[in-house]
Amino acid sequence: MVEVSASILSMKNENAIQTLYNLETSGIDYFHIDVMDGKFVTADTTSKMLEYCEYLNSISNLPLDVHLMVEDAKNYINSFLIFEPNIITVHLEAAKNKEELLEWINYIKENNVRVGISIKPNTKIDEIIEYLPLIHLVLIMTVEPGKGGQELIPSTIQKIKELNEYIKKNNLEVDIEVDGGINIQNVKKLTQAGANIVAVGSCITNSNNFKETVTKLKE
Ligand code: DX5
Ligand code: ZN
Repeated sequence: MVEVSASILSMKNENAIQTLYNLETSGIDYFHIDVMDGKFVTADTTSKMLEYCEYLNSISNLPLDVHLMVEDAKNYINSFLIFEPNIITVHLEAAKNKEELLEWINYIKENNVRVGISIKPNTKIDEIIEYLPLIHLVLIMTVEPGKGGQELIPSTIQKIKELNEYIKKNNLEVDIEVDGGINIQNVKKLTQAGANIVAVGSCITNSNNFKETVTKLKE
């Protein structure tokens, strides 16, 4: 069954505590933490996400799925390691070169956290093939990173299929997470293509009944 990683990016600030509690009990599998630095993407969510993680660490039993949309990943990895996340994902496009990306991958692994690499909609699967034996997860962006509430870009679905076929053919154990514009209507296409984790933000946080929405996403 597909796992749901709930993005709290578009969550309203007013009732944050109640919203996080409602998410915790809605049947989600992870909290998806969207960290933006104001450089790799325009928005800067750093202080907000640090604050939420601190709070989640005190009230939640669910694993954290940290998605770093940042240039200076090493510093950010250090800032978020203290919350003992289950996954830290960095962007392929954010690394200056292969050496830097390998350094990030190794650093996350040395700290006993699962490591993911994310690619933007225009980045090809070919570019991550060489890293697959070294990582636990690929996060395929189905929208341009930077904000919640966008519409899924259909051409990204082919990339999920391509990656899934490669993983199967080569007997690799790598999760495929997809992120951006996912809702009850399009989730099936993504899981049929091979995604096993879906990061979902506004579809859940804008709904009236989180539990019902999460159940439908998993059906
Ligand atoms: C986009 C983020 C996503 C996104 C998910 O940069 O990585 O996690 O906000 O939110 P929705 O589901 O609203 O697209
Ligand atoms: Zn994300």
